[in-house]
Amino acid sequence: MPAHASRAMVAISVVRTLRKVTLPENYREVHSWVAYDGDRPVAFLSAELLSRWSPPEMFFPVEPDIDLTGPTLVFATLVDPELWGRGYATAAKMAACDHPAAARAEAFHACIRADNERSLKAISKIPGIQLVGTAAEEGHRWRHFRWHRRT
Ligand SMILES: CC(C)(COP(=O)(O)OP(=O)(O)OC[C@H]1O[C@@H](n2cnc3c(N)ncnc32)[C@H](O)[C@@H]1OP(=O)(O)O)[C@@H](O)C(=O)NCCC(=O)NCCS
Repeated sequence: MPAHASRAMVAISVVRTLRKVTLPENYREVHSWVAYDGDRPVAFLSAELLSRWSPPEMFFPVEPDIDLTGPTLVFATLVDPELWGRGYATAAKMAACDHPAAARAEAFHACIRADNERSLKAISKIPGIQLVGTAAEEGHRWRHFRWHRRT
């Protein structure tokens, strides 16, 4: 499992959910969700509702005039490693987009490290997924993706 997306990701998200850290001004809500398949927990989702997504310092949009404003729900996903490759990452995010808290978002966003091929493959399966830009952060390249609610 990549170090940037390991249990530390879960810990950070849970601590933020419990409001033990000061969040940036544009943060509206921070959720830590567990997705179930029947009785079995299969995935952890960090979901941060931002009034407006703010790009990292080194961000390169795919189009100069792309509109990334508006309330945005930013996801990070962690699937139980025993269950990788069964479509749970996609299913969990799609289900989360139907959560009442997600109704306050105009767009959904995920940021994936360019060397995380499994995650890039998984995100490509979300209907309407769009690459909106790339970034250089923490010594790595990242890809930023967006999608919108199904109509
Ligand atoms: C990334 C992650 C969420 C994907 O979860 P998942 O439930 O396995 O995802 P899916 O089953 O929907 O899709 C995985 C796809 O990647 C493919 N894949 C698996 N290993 C791969 C690899 N090494 N390189 C490229 N693609 C790979 C699978 O074949 C599958 O595609 P397919 O359905 O067309 O066969 C999961 O691997 C995970 O929790 N990783 C650790 C945390 C992380 O990196 N999170 C993302 C950063 S926010």
